[in-house]
Amino acid sequence: MPEEIRLNDGSAIAQLGLGVWQVDPSITAQVVSWGIEAGYRSIDTAEGYGNEEGVGQAIRGAGVPRNELFVTSKLRNGAHQRDNALRAFDETMSKLDIEQLDLFLIHWPIPSQNKYVEAWKTLIELRDAGRIKSIGVSNFNQEHLERIIGETGVTPAVNQIELHPRFQQRDKREFHIKHNIRIESWSPLGSGRLLKDPTIESIASKHGKSVAQTIIRWHLQEGLIVIPKSVHKERIVSNLDVFDFELDAEDLDTIKGIDSPDGRTGSDPATTTFLF
Ligand SMILES: NC(=O)c1ccc[n+]([C@@H]2O[C@H](COP(=O)([O-])OP(=O)(O)OC[C@H]3O[C@@H](n4cnc5c(N)ncnc54)[C@H](OP(=O)(O)O)[C@@H]3O)[C@@H](O)[C@H]2O)c1
Repeated sequence: MPEEIRLNDGSAIAQLGLGVWQVDPSITAQVVSWGIEAGYRSIDTAEGYGNEEGVGQAIRGAGVPRNELFVTSKLRNGAHQRDNALRAFDETMSKLDIEQLDLFLIHWPIPSQNKYVEAWKTLIELRDAGRIKSIGVSNFNQEHLERIIGETGVTPAVNQIELHPRFQQRDKREFHIKHNIRIESWSPLGSGRLLKDPTIESIASKHGKSVAQTIIRWHLQEGLIVIPKSVHKERIVSNLDVFDFELDAEDLDTIKGIDSPDGRTGSDPATTTFLF
């Protein structure tokens, strides 16, 4: 079972959770139910994924006490302005149909819109009102983090960013450690693109594990929170079966060597302007 990571506000999140981006709304409840049955206790969704209802349905029907489950959602990019953010949060809660959200993130900073400080102040307000346990951000670069911390005095509990062996974001780690912001790796398998990587394949075969398991194990040993996604029951189960082996120093060193500045698979937070 995944260990829990203690966040800077005292809350705890399972280090390994289940992501549901691109999981069709019609199968989300089933996929999340399989995940909970397999032992996942943390689920990562977002307003933009269109599948919060399915997540809520699975959470409510899981037969696992609500306080043992951790639900993350994210504020959509077009709702940074306070009134819109409050309305968007209400919609999230009515779709999830749960009392309190465990973690709410600003999905992207969208610097061109210049409203992420207002969004952050609104998340603080919702947390202070008891509607959210923990608040954080996603896709924030150092300058965005410095700005929200400087203007509010409140440090996000997590920053969810693209991170995987081809895009290790090592230059970002020190700032996060200094401010006790936990990094959560999105697209931890490179959105599936790393699963045929020959370097990781050879490490995986040495340990008798799959490439996906090897990469997930790497995130755990790097001290990152990790949220792989799959819609297949057997993959959901096997992605959690990563606690019976350990990558050695040589494996870690080899994986360090495949990092690339061009390894990004998603959008660049500094220039992304898409609103949803
Ligand atoms: N904050 C953000 O901006 C942001 C952006 C992207 C993602 N995220 C979060 O991060 C989560 C994970 O990222 P992701 O969905 O991009 O990709 P990912 O977890 O890196 O990879 C998922 C892909 O790998 C495949 N896969 C998973 N396990 C496998 C296995 N054991 N064997 C073979 N194939 C396997 C999946 O296929 P099948 O589903 O067909 O099994 C899917 O194509 C998302 O679901 C979301 O929660 C956040």
